[in-house]
Amino acid sequence: MLQAKLKTGFPPLRIGDLEIPVPVIQGGMAVGISLSGLASAVAREGGVGVIAATAIGMLEADYFENGREANARALSREIRKFRAATTGILGVNIMMAADDFDNLLQTCIQERVDMVFLGAGLPIRGIPVKELRQAGIKVVPIVSSPRAARLIFSYWQKTYADIPDAVVVEGPLAGGHLGFAATELDSKENRLENIVPAVVRELAAFRRKEGSAIPVIAAGGIFSGADIHRFLRMGAAGVQMGTRFVGTRECDAHEGFKQAFVTATRNDIRIIASPVGLPGRALAGEFFDRLKRKVAGPTRCAWKCLRSCQAEKAHYCISLALNAARKGDLQRGFAFAGANAWRVDRIVPVHNLIHSLAAEYGLAVEDLVGRLRGEYEKAQVRIAALRREYARVRDAALAEMKRKYGRLVAEKSECLREELSALQKRLSTIRTEYLAHASRLRAMVTHLSMQ
Ligand SMILES: Cc1cc2nc3c(=O)[nH]c(=O)nc-3n(C[C@H](O)[C@H](O)[C@H](O)COP(=O)(O)O)c2cc1C
Repeated sequence: MLQAKLKTGFPPLRIGDLEIPVPVIQGGMAVGISLSGLASAVAREGGVGVIAATAIGMLEADYFENGREANARALSREIRKFRAATTGILGVNIMMAADDFDNLLQTCIQERVDMVFLGAGLPIRGIPVKELRQAGIKVVPIVSSPRAARLIFSYWQKTYADIPDAVVVEGPLAGGHLGFAATELDSKENRLENIVPAVVRELAAFRRKEGSAIPVIAAGGIFSGADIHRFLRMGAAGVQMGTRFVGTRECDAHEGFKQAFVTATRNDIRIIASPVGLPGRALAGEFFDRLKRKVAGPTRCAWKCLRSCQAEKAHYCISLALNAARKGDLQRGFAFAGANAWRVDRIVPVHNLIHSLAAEYGLAVEDLVGRLRGEYEKAQVRIAALRREYARVRDAALAEMKRKYGRLVAEKSECLREELSALQKRLSTIRTEYLAHASRLRAMVTHLSMQ
């Protein structure tokens, strides 16, 4: 049974027919940082565990001879290890920039993973949508702008008569390769708190088959349960976290890699220019000093595993550097890390991490409920005061009207009374006069008839 079924207080994340009890996706972390060990631990807790496929073959002895084969083989093996460890939900992260992207996607189809996360490029042309659907796989693109989200969804609708199942919105505070130009990283417009609601608005026009909205998943700089609560309130249906999961016992990297996060200070977090042509966020270290002195090597390229890679220009191979770091060698390699990596202060089991996030989330909910209750009570007091004020103003207005117009009404009715009595007097005079004339007339008639 999934641990998370013991109540966490989190609202579940729904992606199609999948219900994910803990709305946390563990971000895919190549090269070998998130394998079946970390992914299965996260899935066991009720989140989505993600194996990163890109350059996963570096775990294999024959990577330099048979790179593609080694990648597919290692990916299959890790997927099967995951399935043997848990019945939880499994995702695989593949960089669109990977030269063997199609092959890795085919491996996911053969192994029938639950979902694929496609980043570092737009998953539009040549996606085997039918095959993915037949294998029951959900597709989740990773984007950094509402424009990219619209482009993907419109293209899919037109070309495949289908749309992706959810979308991860990764902001500029994330670790690893970033979807922004280095100069755009600090712009207000690109803050995660701005792009998440913008993507939610952008995707409101697209509906899943069963009619529900596309779940938007926020990523990049999310560190605490309070952060999760904040982004869910902004319209996200879930979050993706990478950095926090490096600081776990089950993370598949060497202990030295994790300790580099624990000892890092704020100043150790850098933006680097990756040979792939994208900026990336990483931990500073000896590797970069050696790179400056052009002694970081080796630059041996196995098979140009990333399409846009310019390893010769950069004077190093990023896959080799990341693989060295995975093994704890931070002289020959470096660690990708999110902007909040300096806040990781210990290595904890995934179970503890999820439960502390849930506890913080619960506190944030309680805090919000407390604030809303306070606001409600204040509003009630104000309404009562306004009611009293209204009654006072109404009574004062009535009194003023009486004072102002009362005399006028009295004077006017006095005039009318006088006019009425004058008329009555006049009537009585007319009547007397009439009666006098009538009796005179009668006397005349009597007189004439006697003649
Ligand atoms: C060590 C490391 C490696 C990463 N590798 C990948 C990757 O291969 N593919 C990818 O889409 N994102 C990668 N990321 C990004 C994460 O999946 C995640 O979206 C991001 O780190 C979230 O921000 P956070 O670290 O602040 O939580 C990596 C991040 C880190 C820290």
